[in-house]
Formats: sequence, C-alpha cells, structure tokens
Amino acid sequence: MTLLSTLSSELDQMAAAGTLKKELSLKSAQGPVVDVEGFGKVIMLTSNNYLGLADHPAIVEAAEKAERDYGYGLASVRFICGTQTIHRQLEERIARFFGTEDTILYGSCWNANEGLFQTVAQEQDAIISDELNHASIIDGVRLSKARKERYRNRDLADLRRALEATRDARNKVVMTDGVFSMEGSLAPLPEMIDLAREFDAFLVVDESHGTGVLGRTGRGTAEELGVFGKIDAYTSTLGKALGGSHGGFTTGPKVLVDYLRQKSRPYLFSNTLPPAVVMGSLAALDLLEKDASFITRLRENTMYFRSQLTAKGITVREGIHPIVPIIIGDTAKAIAMSRELLSRGVYVSGFGFPVVPQGQARLRCQISAAHTREHLDKAISAIVEVARS
Ligand SMILES: Cc1ncc(COP(=O)(O)O)c(C=O)c1O
Repeated sequence: MTLLSTLSSELDQMAAAGTLKKELSLKSAQGPVVDVEGFGKVIMLTSNNYLGLADHPAIVEAAEKAERDYGYGLASVRFICGTQTIHRQLEERIARFFGTEDTILYGSCWNANEGLFQTVAQEQDAIISDELNHASIIDGVRLSKARKERYRNRDLADLRRALEATRDARNKVVMTDGVFSMEGSLAPLPEMIDLAREFDAFLVVDESHGTGVLGRTGRGTAEELGVFGKIDAYTSTLGKALGGSHGGFTTGPKVLVDYLRQKSRPYLFSNTLPPAVVMGSLAALDLLEKDASFITRLRENTMYFRSQLTAKGITVREGIHPIVPIIIGDTAKAIAMSRELLSRGVYVSGFGFPVVPQGQARLRCQISAAHTREHLDKAISAIVEVARS
C-alpha cells in the first residue's frame, strides 16, 4: 500500500505541473492524416512514418500473404524453433542494404541496443557513449560490466578525451546515434571514424532515424556524410521509415553477428519477429530500393517545411533532417501548445523533462514523404498562429 501511495502522489505532482503524458487513440491507420478519437481528422506531424509506408498497400499485402503462408507467430525464440526462411532472407537483405557481412534481427531496436553492450564488452573493456544517445543505448550500456565514459554531444574534443582516458582498456566500443532523435542533428561520423581508427576503437552507429531517411538511397547518416562502408557496425529499427511496424537489428561483421546469436540475451530469450512483420519489412525495402521518389519527396517536404517556418519567424533547430524541433523551454507550455495545435487540426507532440534537458521543452515536428504541400501549409499556419497567441 505504501508503494501505491508513493506512485499516486508522484502522478498527482505530474498532473499539477501539467507534465502528465496523455495518450490519444487513433481510429485509423497511421498516415499523413489520422482520425483521432474526440478530435476527428488531423494532420499527423509527429510520427516516424518518414516514407509514408505505414499503410502502404504493397506492405499490407505482403504482411497478409505472410500470415497465409507462414502463420501468425512462431511461438518460439529463434534458436529453438523460431527461424523461418524469411527471417534469414530479411537478415541477408538488410546486410546487402548496409554493405555489411551479416545481420541479426531483434524484437525491436531497443532490444538490439540492450543486447549489444552486455554481450560484447566485459570488465576489461570500455564503452564510450554520446550523452544524448537514445535511452535504449543508455540502458544497454548500464547492463554491461565494462568501464563507461560519456562524452558531450557531438563534441570531438571530448570524445578524444574519453578515448585517451580509456587507453588501457582491452577493447573500446564507441557508440553514437546517427541522428539524435530529439534534435534532428547528425553525428560527425567522418571525424569519429578517424578517431576510432586512431585509438583502435569499434564504432557502432544507431541508424534508427537515418535508415530510409538520409543519404541519396536512404542508407542513412553514413551515406549522407560520405562514409558509407566505413562504420564498423550499425543498429537500427524496422519501426520507423521501413514500414513503421516493429523489429530491429544489428548489422556488421559476421563474427559479431555470430557471437550475438550465441550470447545476446534479448535474442536468446524473446520471441521471434512475426512473419507478417518480416515480409512487410522485405516489401518496404523493395519499395525503397525501386523507387527513389520516396526519399526525394521526403527531402523536398523537409526543406520546404523548415524554410517556410523560418521565413515566418519561427526558430527551428537548423538541419536537413525531417525531425524539426521548435524549442519552447517550459514543459507545461510545450504540452499546452501541442494541445492547442491539435484542436486546430495538427498533431504535434510536446516533449519535456526528462525526455529532454530541463528548460529545453520542445514541439518536435516530423515530416513525411506522404505529406502534401497542402498538409504542410496548413500545419505551418497553425504553428505560426499558436506561437503568436
Ligand atoms: C535512436 C533510437 N534508437 C532506438 C530506438 C528504439 O527503436 P524501437 O522502437 O525499434 O525499439 C529509437 C526509437 O525511438 C530511437 O529513436
């Protein structure tokens, strides 16, 4: 009973501070316009559906066919009786896409990050991680017995300091988000590769917001920054640009993947990805590789949205990524603005502490290739009006 009263009083405090998160229910599929219970049809400006594939007919059809041919679920983990031919097909396909040797699928990218560090880094090793890395990396690093060093966000001098401080470690792993999910900013990968080589460190990039989004062919931050093929390993998700469903993976050298398959706990002790997700993801990769217009439209929409907002006096974090944060400062104000936008037909989430640092609450807009100019213009007008009021 005392536990419950502690929890309840914390919830009351969050409610009083206006920081309680409320979940809205969609009555429709995810898309550029969604039907929100209690609000009707609104423009979706806050999902990771970057390429607009979440309701794409070719993916839905592939998922339906997968259920007919391979059933609904495997009722097992991969190494017992949960590997179908399509799981290996997807792993090989992802490896080809990333130019790596092999891939291991996980239930999510959270699981991929959770299952990486504790498996490959022991007491004698060191993990060096950007301070703004995703929560799954932070928690994943915590689970490892290795020495941990954090460096300031995208700060190469501080990364060098961390590498020097861990010089005596047996092995060093440097981990960074390719794209920082609350900022839309990119990791300085070319310089990080040089530093990793200098200190004999293994560089891993979480491409969750880069895959299908950045680079001429959607191969991610490394392609965007001209260093595709030079990253040691990647983690990424199937739950954002590549259809937005579920699933994640680690892709890199065969020996790393072989080792993770033997020892990575979220892989060994959690259920196999369902066939529908596997074939849906293969269909998403087909679409992305056959039709360059998804990527082009996403970039055009992003640059249009960024430049129009800026021209109208709204300050956004500079960049090229479809994550477009508008910094508000106060958490309660960011949440109130997001509610006001919703009532004007635009769905944008407000994020506050602890998801972002104290005093840096923000509206995080996210652009999709599926948005039309009309959607974007309507959203821009609503943001300008709400900001003024
Ligand atoms: C950088 C980053 N890594 C990992 C994840 C987790 O991905 P998943 O939803 O596949 O667990 C996210 C999702 O928010 C993310 O933004």
